[in-house]
Amino acid sequence: MKNRKGIILAGGSATRLYPITLAVSKQMLPVYDKPMIYYPLSALMMAGIREVLIISTPAHLPSFESLLGDGSRLGMRFEYKVQEKPIGLADAFRVGEEFIGEDNVALILGDNMIYGSRLQRLLQAANNLQEGGLIFGYKVADPTSYGVVEIDKNGTALSIEEKPEKPKSSLAVPGIYFYDNEVVEIAKKIQPSDRGELEITDVNKAYMEKGKLKVIPLGDGFAWFDTGTADRLSDASDFVKAIELRQGIQIACLEEIAYKQGWMKREDVEEAIKGYKKTEYGKHLKSVLDNEELDYHEIYEGELFDFSE
Ligand code: TTP
Repeated sequence: MKNRKGIILAGGSATRLYPITLAVSKQMLPVYDKPMIYYPLSALMMAGIREVLIISTPAHLPSFESLLGDGSRLGMRFEYKVQEKPIGLADAFRVGEEFIGEDNVALILGDNMIYGSRLQRLLQAANNLQEGGLIFGYKVADPTSYGVVEIDKNGTALSIEEKPEKPKSSLAVPGIYFYDNEVVEIAKKIQPSDRGELEITDVNKAYMEKGKLKVIPLGDGFAWFDTGTADRLSDASDFVKAIELRQGIQIACLEEIAYKQGWMKREDVEEAIKGYKKTEYGKHLKSVLDNEELDYHEIYEGELFDFSE
């Protein structure tokens, strides 16, 4: 099976969050109790992706390097690369060409958050895709500010449009995309759109036209946030707060995911816990090591709820 690398696109101009983002990177802002970039990074990790390229602006890239380092403390490998100008999402595969090499790749936008009960399984399934592209669809009330995909009953994409005035469906495309290695060549051929950007929608169209674009609709059990405006940033924080406080869990606890993936040794997690001292994050990690966390998924997927006999 071909390896897949991950890219987090964490640049852009974040003008919709001015004045907050006049001097600070959007993807460094807190979503309740963690820097925003933890959430998309955790999604790549749950998919099983261990090598990640973080792309940001010349001004902000150093702060990500100091936050995340080379990844070795999580048993991962991180690389960093500057995007000189925010010329569009598809530019990620041009900037990342050398990093991607011969591998397959997943791109996630640094301001996107997905949460759901079976998310890990879904992401792992997506990661197993060997050929073509795979995106998700999420029903939203007003799709006009998103990429919008129209699908048939089999989940095949019929059309895909960027910020349509008259959307053909209410399925917005969240900012997480899985592609085979061909994406590098596809991205090189893309021309700037009318608004002057290298559009990810054009990448998806190229796959769609070859009949190689899969679309997984995310149902009721999922929450997707893109945290690009003050309202949505605040909504995402409220959501994380509500779940974490109510259930005593942590969303996007990087060490927990790395430990459960077998990338981090117990001693390394113990060392990390010391650094988090008395935070809920640290307490949660300790309970993970103490095996106090019950894995509900094992119960759901076991035979406990088969009452058919
Ligand atoms: P957007 O939200 O489309 O743009 P933005 O972050 O620049 O914000 P605004 O519209 O408020 O000015 O970008 C989506 C994500 O992709 C976000 O995490 C920033 C990132 N991005 C890049 O890193 N490079 C780019 O060229 C673009 C267009 C976006």
